[in-house]
Amino acid sequence: MQPIELLVEEHRIIAKAVSVTQDFRAEIQSGAHIRPKRYWMLIDFWSTFADIVHHGKEEQVLFPAIEQHGGASEFGDTIDQLVEEHMQLLGYISDLRRSAKPAFTGDKAARDKVIKCLDAYVKLTVPHIQLEDAELFPAAATILSDKELARLAKEFKAMDTRTRPQVHSYYKTLLENLMEK
Ligand SMILES: [Fe+2]
Ligand SMILES: [Fe+2]
Repeated sequence: MQPIELLVEEHRIIAKAVSVTQDFRAEIQSGAHIRPKRYWMLIDFWSTFADIVHHGKEEQVLFPAIEQHGGASEFGDTIDQLVEEHMQLLGYISDLRRSAKPAFTGDKAARDKVIKCLDAYVKLTVPHIQLEDAELFPAAATILSDKELARLAKEFKAMDTRTRPQVHSYYKTLLENLMEK
């Protein structure tokens, strides 16, 4: 798979996780008991698949490649914004980890915090991936040569292998399990 197509495909997987997260949030908001296993599966998805697998490729490989190949003046500000948003998303995950235990035992403030974080995560992720899909990825496909794109593909593959074998199918299955409820 071409490297930019792979990133778009990862956005499709992330979009499914957004929908799972919205359902999970609605369930908690309705007053249901938080199911810890589902909670940790969702956090695993956002912290490993979204942050390490996906944001890792963008921050460590794609964004520097765009900036090094003439895109810095046009896309530098957008890239700074996207990196800042990745950090904000990671902050929500830290808050979700911290709120887990009290939220599981029914602490109202912790449950409210969880609802707020899940909501904020989704609200930031949706426009973030739209911006990348609409602006930055098409620009990257134009700016980067075939040789550079081949290098990206190789780097992406190596990063995925370092994270876990068959990382995409692992997290697709995890999401399917979460969708089954
Ligand atoms: Fe991103
Ligand atoms: Fe992305």
